[in-house]
Amino acid sequence: MSIKIKKAVIPVAGLGTRFLPATKAIPKEMIPIVDVPIIQLIIEEAINSGIQDIVLITARHKEAIENHFDFNYELEDTLGKKQKKELAELSKNIGENCNVITIRQKNPLGLGHAVLCAQPVIGNEPFAVLLGDDLIDSKIPCTKQLIDLYERENASVVGVMEVPKNETLKYGIVGGKMLNPKLMEVSHLVEKPDPQYAPSCLAIPGRYVLSPSIFKYLKDTKPGKGGEIQLTDALEKVAKNERLLAYQFDGTRYDAGDRLGFIEATIAYALKRPELASGVKDILKKYSG
Ligand code: UTP
Repeated sequence: MSIKIKKAVIPVAGLGTRFLPATKAIPKEMIPIVDVPIIQLIIEEAINSGIQDIVLITARHKEAIENHFDFNYELEDTLGKKQKKELAELSKNIGENCNVITIRQKNPLGLGHAVLCAQPVIGNEPFAVLLGDDLIDSKIPCTKQLIDLYERENASVVGVMEVPKNETLKYGIVGGKMLNPKLMEVSHLVEKPDPQYAPSCLAIPGRYVLSPSIFKYLKDTKPGKGGEIQLTDALEKVAKNERLLAYQFDGTRYDAGDRLGFIEATIAYALKRPELASGVKDILKKYSG
């Protein structure tokens, strides 16, 4: 029987330049969708997928993220005394359901390097990777869909979605043989290809479940596109030497790292909140006329 996947790596060490000036002093992962920081939504996806240990790969000026998952004694005590027990509980419960372990990536050398920083905590177990820019709203959490496949097939899995041809240069793109309409046996990957060089229109938006052998390949990976150590380049070695599957997950994905994607995510998540939905619809009507 295969090992149960209980650990996830969430790299949050990037500079968030696409969201300046907001990200000058605040980590982009702390920007809220309505009133919940993006990182909390990502960690909730991991917890709802059965993950117990979250390994955050952080950097300088990212302490707000760690604080968010800790108790805030002053706040919770004051709210409790003011008979605002519900709010006190809301604050306290945030970090209750998982262990958050942080590791510093001292230099932003790329996503591949960030994942490699997690090796001392992950050890020799398969693990999930979730990127904070991508929110995926689905009945069964996207990470759970990938974990189920990993456990069934005993092979590394990347979550993919179909994108228009002219958008391939924003993503890692997979190529290979379709095993069924949603599943590909990956033979190669290209990081952010121009449309004419894209092996398919299946893009990786930031969900992975990986065998620990990825660390061995990451150690051998030289800086690639943009001078960064790319996770995609190490995944190419998994595809060549072992087995890599790409699964078209069920769910709606929002690119919360992009300004328009962020606005769309805010509207979509607000519309899911019963206490906000009709007010948001009125606002949308007012501005769409
Ligand atoms: P991005 O390049 O999309 O994120 O990296 P960024 O650098 O934060 O944002 P922009 O593009 O400048 O606006 C994808 C993910 O990998 C992490 C980022 O935090 C993000 O979650 N990352 C990237 C690291 O943790 N370390 C790195 O060296 C690079």
